[in-house]
Amino acid sequence: MCGIVGYLGPNQATPFLIEGLKKLEYRGYDSAGIAVFDGNVIRVEKSVGRLNALEQLVENDPPKGHVGIGHTRWATHGRPSDANSHPHTDCSGDFVVVHNGIIENYLHLKEQLIAKGHVFTSETDTEVVAHLVEEYYQGNFEETVKKVLAAIEGSYALVFFTKHEPDKIICTKQDNPLVIGLGDGENFIASDIPAIINHTRKTYILSDGEMAVVTKDSVWVTNRQGVPVSKKVFEVNWDAEAAEKGGYEHFMIKEIYEQPKAIRETTLGRLAKDDSGIIFDELKWTKDDVAAIKKIAIVACGTAYHAGIVGKYYIEQLARIPVEVEVASEFRYRSPLVDEKTLAVFISQSGETLDTIAALKEAKKLGARTLAITNVVGSSISREADQVIYTWAGPEIAVASTKAYTTQLIGVLMLAIYLASLRGTLAPERTAQLIQGLKQLPAQAHELLEDVEPIKTFAQQYGFNEDVFFIGRSLDYAVALEGALKLKEISYIHAEAYAAGELKHGTLALIIEGVPVIALATQRDVYEKMLSNIKEVKARDAVVIGLAMQGDEEIKKYVDHTIFIPAAEKYLAPILAVIPLQLLAYYAAVTRGADVDKPRNLAKSVTVE
Ligand code: F6R
Repeated sequence: MCGIVGYLGPNQATPFLIEGLKKLEYRGYDSAGIAVFDGNVIRVEKSVGRLNALEQLVENDPPKGHVGIGHTRWATHGRPSDANSHPHTDCSGDFVVVHNGIIENYLHLKEQLIAKGHVFTSETDTEVVAHLVEEYYQGNFEETVKKVLAAIEGSYALVFFTKHEPDKIICTKQDNPLVIGLGDGENFIASDIPAIINHTRKTYILSDGEMAVVTKDSVWVTNRQGVPVSKKVFEVNWDAEAAEKGGYEHFMIKEIYEQPKAIRETTLGRLAKDDSGIIFDELKWTKDDVAAIKKIAIVACGTAYHAGIVGKYYIEQLARIPVEVEVASEFRYRSPLVDEKTLAVFISQSGETLDTIAALKEAKKLGARTLAITNVVGSSISREADQVIYTWAGPEIAVASTKAYTTQLIGVLMLAIYLASLRGTLAPERTAQLIQGLKQLPAQAHELLEDVEPIKTFAQQYGFNEDVFFIGRSLDYAVALEGALKLKEISYIHAEAYAAGELKHGTLALIIEGVPVIALATQRDVYEKMLSNIKEVKARDAVVIGLAMQGDEEIKKYVDHTIFIPAAEKYLAPILAVIPLQLLAYYAAVTRGADVDKPRNLAKSVTVE
């Protein structure tokens, strides 16, 4: 996720670009840049770091001109650096582009362009777009952009600008947002409404495949074939703060709703088109590399640790390699038994959690091969580990982790399938089933989010209880742990998760009349056992909310309420099952009037011991 802005009009572009980028910093904040046409050349200024670094850079000598574009970056291809910051230019500096998204076929295009003599100055996927424009330009900017779009694959919001036709900016989008703000004798372009709300409330929201040619006085929208599209003006009636949250009340709920996209981005380019396996260009392991791994240690904290527990089930069951999972603060101090035959996997959204970094250093010292699964390119953990699998969830602002968790599950599942393929422990048909399931997942997550009313009602009904229990078996138990953590951290309700079979060894004593028990029952191989556990708590008059797969009529006989998730492959069920639990926690916290995005005593990134 990155933030894009653009301006054409009678005013100086730079102040708007900087102000707009500030409003979009929640979309990315590892580097930023602007490009402004001064009547002669396009001046590009960019800087790694938060936006104030760029602001300071241009403070004394701001680029002057009435047309410009800007970008705040959340790194994907290429670490955060001045060179990798956007805008990107071609060899001549006459064409400039900013991009949000991922160009999947950039490596192939880059090789072709280098062969033709283009000189690249960054590690990004975006730079190929600038060179493609240079390569194709023959005096007609619109036709050039169309040709570029035909050559690239992936997801994008792209904004183009050239000194040869300086009265216009061209923009287009596919799977990433872009809005055009309609002013009086001036027009604005942005990834999101907060950037423009102080200037205009009249907007065009671009749809996938649309391309707009924007001048200061006009906006001409067509589809990619050049057929004009008549756009309706969308009047923004949110206040500035609500606009930053995309009209949602909190970042947490916005991020819950971003999960279909985050899942899609994390799998993008990694699922073989013919369903034959996982493509991890970042690993490129051989059979021998994998045969050398005798044990895997997954180390993480909090929600990321819970993703690790799911990962243990995935890797052990699919790849048949023994896995131990441990919280980083324990791992680092107990002389762990890891050596060069161990693959140590560190999961971290921020990549900056101090205990996880220390555990990673400890594992390296002991000779282990290290792999990070993280959401932040260029983070300490990504730099320290031997190799990295990035989750492409985009910046997570709410303290309670949601989209990072689901993408971590995708990360460990893809790793498990990848290892299994190299070890020959997974039949090709089974691999294909899993890959097909992964491809369907964004749509299923979307479907799940379409009707949240029943969950809201349960939260309102039970949101004032002091204790809630979560039970499940196998993968459901791992998800129950995350469900309980979510509820605790944002609603302050005491919540515990138990392996359902453990209840009778102690916890059943706490189950009395009216206590809510959330019973996860998505796993068919332990389903009958789970029903027995549900009967155990029902017999103590608990109120049971069953979480099951669509089509499961049986469960309704034993529970008070049911939440259904779309029917999915057993290994994919956790990724869907956690979503209603996130929603339950969210609505319980709202019901209790808690500060959802900033729960008491907690910080987003724990950089202390
Ligand atoms: C809970 C939560 C935390 C983090 C934990 C690790 O919602 O967000 O438990 O998961 O602090 O953080 P990262 O993943 O950044 O290492």
